[in-house]
Amino acid sequence: MDSWLNMMLLCGLLLIASLQTTNAFRFRRSNSKSHLETNVHSLQDHYKTRGTEWVSKSVFVSHLNQLNSKASCTCQALLLERMLNFYEELFKDMQSEHKDERNNPQYVMNEVKKLRQNYIVEHKVWKELQEINSLKVKNGTIRGGALNDFLMVFERAYTEKHKQV
Ligand SMILES: *[C@@H]1O[C@H](CO)[C@@H](O)[C@H](O)[C@H]1NC(C)=O
Repeated sequence: MDSWLNMMLLCGLLLIASLQTTNAFRFRRSNSKSHLETNVHSLQDHYKTRGTEWVSKSVFVSHLNQLNSKASCTCQALLLERMLNFYEELFKDMQSEHKDERNNPQYVMNEVKKLRQNYIVEHKVWKELQEINSLKVKNGTIRGGALNDFLMVFERAYTEKHKQV
């Protein structure tokens, strides 16, 4: 009985805490936006990334455009594509070991391959994730280009999690 009450109390507290955080964040939003911009602009000045030579050095615009394309994938489908990809490689590997017909994984592998053709969008997203993951923060070109893209990325990411209902 006691632990049940404790549990309820904890849940209640967590709920209040999370509501307060959301509200506080919303409340500060307009103020923090201009603060954010001022901050980024001074960084851009410091790293001299406001010149025209930086116009073509965008790092994330193409990825952002990708977000707006209709064919978007879900996290679930993305994970499933990776699992299928693993199985395709697994059966391919097994196939190289099986010379006899009886337990040749060829059929299973082809079925996996066929199914994966429905996951082309997810595969593309996976490729993008890898590209983003390989970006080096120490590379000056990437650093400057990414700094210039920051406000755009932040705005989009903010909106994504604060959609009006
Ligand atoms: C830095 O990034 C740019 C753009 O991606 C690339 O062309 C260049 O080779 C990179 N430089 C180094 C030292 O990795």
